[in-house]
Amino acid sequence: MAYRIAANQLRTTRILSVKTESPTVKTFTFKDKVCARAKPGQFLMLWIPGVDEIPLSILDANEDGAVSVAVKKVGEATQALHNKKVGEIVGLRGPFGNSFTLKEGKILMVGGGTGTAPLLFLSRKLASKAAKLVFVIGAKTKEELLFIDKLEEVCSEGNLVATAEDGSYGIKCLATTPLESLLAKEKFEMIYTCGPEQMMRKVLDLAEKHEIALEASLERLMRCAIGLCGSCVVGKYRVCRDGPVFTANQLEEVKREFGISKRDFNGKRISL
Ligand SMILES: Cc1cc2nc3c(=O)[nH]c(=O)nc-3n(C[C@H](O)[C@H](O)[C@H](O)COP(=O)(O)OP(=O)(O)OC[C@H]3O[C@@H](n4cnc5c(N)ncnc54)[C@H](O)[C@@H]3O)c2cc1C
Ligand code: FES
Repeated sequence: MAYRIAANQLRTTRILSVKTESPTVKTFTFKDKVCARAKPGQFLMLWIPGVDEIPLSILDANEDGAVSVAVKKVGEATQALHNKKVGEIVGLRGPFGNSFTLKEGKILMVGGGTGTAPLLFLSRKLASKAAKLVFVIGAKTKEELLFIDKLEEVCSEGNLVATAEDGSYGIKCLATTPLESLLAKEKFEMIYTCGPEQMMRKVLDLAEKHEIALEASLERLMRCAIGLCGSCVVGKYRVCRDGPVFTANQLEEVKREFGISKRDFNGKRISL
C-alpha cells in the first residue's frame, strides 16, 4: 500500500535527454526513483505544466533511476511536450497498472506505432530467457517504424519482421499479414501485442484460431489512473487499474468493444 501511495504522489523532474525517433515521435528520458522500479507494460502519468497530464507507456526503466517514454505528437499536450528541451521541468505519477507476464518459451510480439515501446521494454527483459523471440513490427511508412535498430539487438537474425503499408521498408503489408504463416509454421507459447486496437483485435482472432495464449496492452482515455473516475472503462474493467495488459480470456469478455469502440471525454461511445 505504501508503494501505491508513493506512486500516486506527483513528483517533478527535469528532462535529461530528448531523442527524435521519427517525424512524429520523440523519446524523453528523466530520473525518477519510483518509476525506475516499473515493469514492462506499466504506464506513468506525465504532467506538462500548464497544459495537461497524459498516460504514457514506460519504454525503459533502469536501476540508476533513468526512465524513458516515447511520445507521438497527436494533440495539445503531446505537442507541448515535443517543444520541451533538456533541463525543463515535467511532473509525473506512477508507475500504474499491471504488467506483462514473463514467459520463457517461444514468444511472438506484434507491435504497431508507439505500441512498440512497451514491447521493446519487455523484449529486453525476455531476450536472454525466451527459447525464441520473433518480433513483427508494423507502420504506415518506413519513417514511422520505431526502434528497428534496438529490436535488431534483441532479436536474433531473421526473427525481426518489419512491415510498412506503403512498401517503403520490409514487407509491403499490415503487421498482421505475416502472422498467419508464422503461426502455421511454428507453435508459440505466448503472443504479446500493443498498438492500434483494430490490429490487436486481428491478432487476438489469430491467437484464438491457433490456440495460443495472448496478452494485449490497451489504451483508453485516462484521468485519475487509479481506478476512481471511470473514464478508462472497457466492459467491466477499468484499464488503468485492471490493465492496461489484458489476457485473451478477458478480451473475449469485452469483445463487443475491443477493436470496435471506446468512450470519449464525455463518456460517449465512439467508433475506433
Ligand atoms: C495506458 C496508455 C499508454 C499510452 N502510451 C503511450 C505511449 O507510450 N506513447 C504515446 O505517444 N501515446 C501513448 N498513449 C496515448 C497518449 O496518452 C495520448 O496520445 C495523449 O494523451 C494525447 O494527448 P494530446 O493532448 O496530445 O491529444 P488530444 O488533443 O487530447 O487528443 C488526440 C488523440 O489522443 C487521444 N487521447 C487524448 N487524451 C488521452 C488520454 N488521456 N488517454 C488516452 N488517449 C488520449 C484522443 O482520443 C485523441 O484521439 C497511451 C495511452 C494510454 C491510456
Ligand atoms: S483513469 Fe480513472 S478509473 Fe481509470
